[in-house]
Amino acid sequence: MYQLAGKRILLGVTGGIAAYKAAVLLRLLRKHGADVRVVMTRGAIEFVTPLTFQALSGKPVHTELLDLEAESAMGHIELARWADLILIAPASANFMARFANGFADDLLSTLCLAANIPVIIAPAMNQQMWLNAATQENLEKLKFRGISIIGPAEGDQACGENGPGRLLEAEDIASLTAKSFETNILTGSRVLITAGPTREAIDPVRYISNRSSGKMGYAVAIAAIEAGADVSLISGPVNLPEPERAKVTNVSSTAEMYKAVMSEASRTDIFISAAAVADYSLESISEQKIKKLNDSFELKLKKNPDILSEVSAMQDAPFSVGFAAETENLETNAQAKLHSKKLDMIAANHVGDGQGFDVETNALTIFWKNGQKQLEQAPKTKLARNLINLIADQYNEKNSNKTH
Ligand code: C5P
Repeated sequence: MYQLAGKRILLGVTGGIAAYKAAVLLRLLRKHGADVRVVMTRGAIEFVTPLTFQALSGKPVHTELLDLEAESAMGHIELARWADLILIAPASANFMARFANGFADDLLSTLCLAANIPVIIAPAMNQQMWLNAATQENLEKLKFRGISIIGPAEGDQACGENGPGRLLEAEDIASLTAKSFETNILTGSRVLITAGPTREAIDPVRYISNRSSGKMGYAVAIAAIEAGADVSLISGPVNLPEPERAKVTNVSSTAEMYKAVMSEASRTDIFISAAAVADYSLESISEQKIKKLNDSFELKLKKNPDILSEVSAMQDAPFSVGFAAETENLETNAQAKLHSKKLDMIAANHVGDGQGFDVETNALTIFWKNGQKQLEQAPKTKLARNLINLIADQYNEKNSNKTH
């Protein structure tokens, strides 16, 4: 269940006897590396106390829609932006009815409306309630809207009856949730990604570099893997674990990154240049450590190759995506780069004042030839998935235009 690592899951617990099983599920999700926040309905609190979930999640449990304290810390809109996925287990008949009809009169139902992310529900109820035409109609409505329904299982019920309505086992819920992160939208395509900073040596111990942490590029690599792509990641020096199932090449200087990219570019379908590549390098690197003899001294720099422009200028160039980190005039500068570098897409973000580099969240505006999309402030992992969705859409559209 490696797909759960680092995922932000909003676990909704509704009122039913199976609510206690959500505690086991929560432990399992956390064991596999998910970051879980729990939202309980008023009904759920009658069965299990919020303290149980608070202790197991290590985070405050959210219960009220309008809670002054919660709104000043992580209010319902922040919660919706934070999450990668909403998992409701157990989902009661009442909750399904309210969700199917678009209610927004408590925190969980409001989140389901406010969050534009996948929702999985694991129903649990008495078998007659499950089989009732009203519940079955609600079920169809939810399925039609793209909500994933997992279970219920059949068997002995807490009420003494036997039939459909048992909550799936926690193991099964966790593993289906993990699998739901695999989208297959890029299955069969080869994606080459650069990430992190590059370092330009001054002498054997010193270098020029920048504040890039590599977090965005690594998140994009993971999102591309989950989309089914064959991923090659060329990384500058970073402090991040290597993504599983990617081919990783570690480089230091721009010249090394250039060489590594060029050796693979012709076998690539999509090139995503997320690295903060140094624009200049030393004209000559001192062989010995430079001594502090003078009050001032100058470094002579020469321009580095623009890796992205070289790739996008190739014959049969891959679908090329650049990043533009800007401190001002975001849209104008990004649009200019889209054209001058002959890109298919560019992801622009504001940097400076604590934004962009070496932080967990970001906001991106994506531009392509005939469109643009704003991705609001969110964890980089979530932005990366949205970016990969947009890339897959535009890449497929470009390919279908080519074949027609
Ligand atoms: O021109 P600017 O550096 O702002 O462009 C940023 C984009 O170009 C990023 O996608 C970056 O990875 C790429 N780039 C590159 N080689 C360079 C400089 C930037 O690939 N030498």
